[in-house]
Amino acid sequence: MPKTVNQSIKPLNTTRNNLGNLEISGCDTVELARKYGTPLYVMDEVTLRQIAKEYKNAFSSYKKTNMMYASKALMTSQIAKILHEEGFGFDVVSGGEIYTIHNAKVDMNFATFNGNNKTKDEIETALKLNIGRISVDNFLEVKMLDEEAKKQNKIQKILLRITPGIECHTHKYIQTGHLDSKFGFDLTQIDEVINLIKNECSNLEIKGLHAHIGSQIFETKVYYDEIGVLIKELKRINTTHNLNLDEINAGGGLGITYIATDCPPSVDTIANTIITSIKDHCKKYDVEEPVLYIEPGRSIVGTAGVTLYTIGSNKQVPNGRKYIAVDGGMADNPRPSMYEAKYYAEIANYKNNKNMEKVTVAGRFCESGDILIKDIELNDPRTGDILCVYNTGAYGYSMSSNYNRVLKPAMILVNNSQSDIIIKRETYEQLVQNDVLK
Ligand code: LLP
Repeated sequence: MPKTVNQSIKPLNTTRNNLGNLEISGCDTVELARKYGTPLYVMDEVTLRQIAKEYKNAFSSYKKTNMMYASKALMTSQIAKILHEEGFGFDVVSGGEIYTIHNAKVDMNFATFNGNNKTKDEIETALKLNIGRISVDNFLEVKMLDEEAKKQNKIQKILLRITPGIECHTHKYIQTGHLDSKFGFDLTQIDEVINLIKNECSNLEIKGLHAHIGSQIFETKVYYDEIGVLIKELKRINTTHNLNLDEINAGGGLGITYIATDCPPSVDTIANTIITSIKDHCKKYDVEEPVLYIEPGRSIVGTAGVTLYTIGSNKQVPNGRKYIAVDGGMADNPRPSMYEAKYYAEIANYKNNKNMEKVTVAGRFCESGDILIKDIELNDPRTGDILCVYNTGAYGYSMSSNYNRVLKPAMILVNNSQSDIIIKRETYEQLVQNDVLK
């Protein structure tokens, strides 16, 4: 039995209803597909709020914790509103994410602006809106930020993003904490950046350190070690520079269960690892327990989301695979083609027989690599059936595109037998609205 939401493949209340159709939080998915069309992103509010609560409970013994949802996993105004209601702040990485949480009436004091190449305009906007923290990534940014803070006559609180030198076993595109990374300062550059800030940047106030080791992580030791590096460095900086930094941001990264063989730790296990490591290392280095920030993204929204597709054509390769094609693919979910990511799926509509067939689910986009799921057993997949792909809540919509000029799907929120649109389906008019015809 899953202990926390990230250990489940399906949203919490997923079942077959009395018609034999797949139902999520009381909403018949076949009915949803008919009402809203496909492809359709479905987010289950119950699962979303449950994982948010699980995080809050898991860290409740460490009072100085600030939960900052990593917006890049999925950001819409309604998702921001729900997570803010659940007590989350936000990790934002662009003007667009800043604008969206502002639009959702989030107090900007509960936001951290991350990123390795923030623009002048983005920095200006972040400061104008009184963003809580900026995680400073490089030397150029230090100067740009101080200049802007001076212009706006503000003292901006910052964290320094460091590369802690920790490698975790995840896809190499989503590792970030190893030394040869584009993100953050190498530990050997920290003294130089602090001297620069102390001597030349009177409008910046360093509050602490920030790191992120990677994404879709199943190990716990890497978090223990990461916290160790952060606290050791905090102590060294405070002693060497006579400062009083007291904040650490451990980033995100907790994995979810895309397929049955995925075994991510529970939220409680991760929380205990982080809290134990803080206590152990604060004792070891004689440091007061710092304020903690964590930035989970995927584990908050991943499991709550599914995508519904309609099955169209199929192709049996003579003596080879059988392909079934759906009406979406790499534009609404680029993860399989980018990271060889694996997903689980089921036929959503009732079948009066059980006739499992091994097929490969192909997308509709003009590219051989547009395969959503390779070799999956589905029950008698036929043209017109609705396919439910699980765990698409994170990094699906947020990385979607208009490849082949295909419209982006709608997103709906389900809860208590009710469904509401939270992103409208794109229209052809919107597709050409920024085109200029001369
Ligand atoms: N904090 C920072 C500084 C990050 O860079 C990230 C993710 C997170 C937090 C949230 O990590 P999460 O809890 O979601 O693992 N597009 C890739 C994932 C890229 C993650 C980038 N940074 C994917 O679809 O797997």
